[in-house]
Amino acid sequence: MCREGRDKKNKSEASTRSHTQARSSSDIFKTILLVVIVGSLAWFYKAIQPPTPRTIGSTSGAAVTWPRIKLRDGRHLAYKEFGFPRDEAKFKIIYIHGFDSCKLDSPFPQFLSQALVEELRIYTVSFDRPGYGESDPDPNRSPRSIALDIEELADGLGLGPNFYVVGLSMGGEITWTCLKYIPHRLAGAALLGPVINYWWRNLPRDITREAFSLTSPADQWALRKWFPFSNVIAGNPVIFSRQDMEVVSKLGGFRPNLAYIRQQGEYESIHRDLKVGFSSWEFDPLDLEDPFPNNNVSVHLWHGDEDRFVPVKLQRYIASKLPWIHYHELSGSGHLLPYVEGLTDKITKSLLVGEEEVPESREASA
Ligand SMILES: *[C@@H]1O[C@H](CO)[C@@H](O)[C@H](O)[C@H]1NC(C)=O
Repeated sequence: MCREGRDKKNKSEASTRSHTQARSSSDIFKTILLVVIVGSLAWFYKAIQPPTPRTIGSTSGAAVTWPRIKLRDGRHLAYKEFGFPRDEAKFKIIYIHGFDSCKLDSPFPQFLSQALVEELRIYTVSFDRPGYGESDPDPNRSPRSIALDIEELADGLGLGPNFYVVGLSMGGEITWTCLKYIPHRLAGAALLGPVINYWWRNLPRDITREAFSLTSPADQWALRKWFPFSNVIAGNPVIFSRQDMEVVSKLGGFRPNLAYIRQQGEYESIHRDLKVGFSSWEFDPLDLEDPFPNNNVSVHLWHGDEDRFVPVKLQRYIASKLPWIHYHELSGSGHLLPYVEGLTDKITKSLLVGEEEVPESREASA
């Protein structure tokens, strides 16, 4: 082949190639666009269509390994008992676990001293909240429904007309709903580092804004509504105070039961929990009138002044607006209060028998 001819051929090949390239890059662009659109639709569909739940006890789900009670609507709640035998106990406590957690995370078995269990005859029960562990999800869940679940659990176990509730973190947030919807069933309540829903309408905007600005700026846009839960989900160390870090290393990790907690899928466990916890509620705890005007039931709120999950400043504000709450602020404490050595005994004693250490300065002036 002569040189000229080869050049020509190359040229025409090149032009064909560039033509093809032009066409194919526009095809690729179209394809990408289509993928993006379909992908977004799929994402959107997924976002509005929860995945099929991996129902406990079904062929697609985990086996039932814990005792469960059946609720009126057919759902089951799995529970774990600890302490004095139920029928002989003097005090009965229902523990409400926090976000991304389960009944196995109840502090009582490990941190309530046996001496106190015996002395006061304390029975405790913890349960997997709907969608966690071995409790069925509740597609109709609301702040009110969880309080009614707790009442049904108490009745299913025969705990009698009145029982105590202790809730940590998001379990503390749920304790507010017990005070609102089932106060007549309570013998007492303790809220430990209770989560605050920034959408409660009476919260002063300047304090919520300030609390918000304490978040790392990079996180702020993503956290908007679920502050500071993306850090919580990720177990990011920035959310732990010094004392929390000690607790986490003592427990051998932030979430030792993670696989069990989310075994029904993240949608039914953590997503729905966040959705309900941070939706607009039918009530604002700041509007609650004293549920116990006879003073025969006491309500305690405990908060660490180094809590990085829930800002102490907001908690102080809430406590100051509700004079019927016994507010205990713990200096140097973080969020994971009941796992601190000795604190569960202290919290439990003050709830059940009203024993409180009176600060020395006040004792002296009294
Ligand atoms: C507190 O007093 C009210 C009103 O008398 C009563 O209905 C309720 O059962 C009492 N609660 C407890 C725990 O004793």
